[in-house]
Amino acid sequence: MQKTDLMDKIVSLCKRRGFIFQSSEIYGGLASTFDYGPLGVELKKNVKNAWWRSVVHHRDDVVGLDASILMHPKVWEASGHTANFHDVLVDCKKCNTRLREDHIQDGQCPKCGKKEFTDGRAFDLMFKTTIGAVTDENANAYLRPETAQGIFVNFKNVIDATHRKLPFGIAQIGKSFRNEVTTGNFIFRMREFEQMEIEYFSKPDEAEKNHQQWIDTRFNWYMDYGIKKENLQLRPHGDDELAHYAKGCTDVEYQFPFGWSELEGIANRTDFDLKQHSEFSGTDLRYHDPVTNEKYFPHIIEPSSGVDRATLAFLVDAYHEEEVKGKIRTVLKFNKHLAPIHVAVLPLLKKNSEIVALAKKIKQDLQQDLVCVYDDTAAIGKLYRRQDEVGTFFCVTVDVDSLSDQMVTIRDRDTMQQERVSIAQLRQYLREKLF
Ligand code: GAP
Repeated sequence: MQKTDLMDKIVSLCKRRGFIFQSSEIYGGLASTFDYGPLGVELKKNVKNAWWRSVVHHRDDVVGLDASILMHPKVWEASGHTANFHDVLVDCKKCNTRLREDHIQDGQCPKCGKKEFTDGRAFDLMFKTTIGAVTDENANAYLRPETAQGIFVNFKNVIDATHRKLPFGIAQIGKSFRNEVTTGNFIFRMREFEQMEIEYFSKPDEAEKNHQQWIDTRFNWYMDYGIKKENLQLRPHGDDELAHYAKGCTDVEYQFPFGWSELEGIANRTDFDLKQHSEFSGTDLRYHDPVTNEKYFPHIIEPSSGVDRATLAFLVDAYHEEEVKGKIRTVLKFNKHLAPIHVAVLPLLKKNSEIVALAKKIKQDLQQDLVCVYDDTAAIGKLYRRQDEVGTFFCVTVDVDSLSDQMVTIRDRDTMQQERVSIAQLRQYLREKLF
């Protein structure tokens, strides 16, 4: 399959089956903004839960936070965003195409090949808004372009509340906003997106070691949830690519249909952030080391990932087409922790009221701890294909025999193997397979 075809197929499946829709579509859409539909919201929630479990619940050294999107405008002066967070844009003098200066290769316009451009102009990436009734300069605020700053400004609060000792991390999931100039590639680059960020506070002389540990941990996480190793790579940044705050950064990249691209950046931010916020706020954010009695600024390791990019990578990697009995079966082979639906309960004969009633009763029981759907709107072959296409882990079929022997057929999504299991043991059986 051509890679561009694959992307088209995924975008089409996402719309058709209710994963992802263009935002405000009935009004012609709003560029680079997307809405998650009934299945997409389940998938995205599962991605966030998998991340949270792995970096907060399964560790002893990370706690969570949920900071607000609006912050004091001085935060963005201290962080350097007011001064540095813009793209430089140029126009091609021949075909007028607008381009990001840093995206131009070999000094050539990618559209017409000409090498003459207008002078660069800075384009502000932060969305500005105003707070309160009076719209003077003091009322200016920004929609946060990253969740990280909410963590830095709460560093002291978290230390005071939890008495944490170094090294420890604060994790946060939340919306960020960027007025991106180059957009496209579906949910890869959006103007409103979600980030999953960890700020890991480290003793200065342990920062390099912790940086490497987080690079390994985060690379492995994507494989733990099903991404094939050959589709992942680590790419250390060159000195000319590093953000103004970073001493080093390594990206986890995924081989998307449009090429290798960043899923997550793991940066060594040194003591830049806490120093800056101490200076701009006048609050001392140094750490008091209880062993040496010294005060110093911790160095920060930042694994920063995108929920939407991870969701797209999981979708692409899960997409399979297989030939079965001369027909193409499309199946999303999601990891069991990511699949939007655990179990579909399907009656073999929708006109038999006893079968329908039993199937609905089984669904009622299973949905106490599993995500289930009931479907009787087509013949069984078609129902199986529909569930395969959205990655439902198991199908449970209720037939005439089920009424007498109290057994149902369980079909495995990936192997298509079928097994007969007693209704009394069904919930326990599925729980063991899925949890
Ligand atoms: N705090 C550091 C920071 O925000 P970044 O590399 O600009 O670093 C981190 O962003 C992650 O956020 C990226 O690796 C990507 O997954 C996600 N991300 C950034 N901009 C995005 C956008 N416009 N649309 C979707 N995801 C984005």
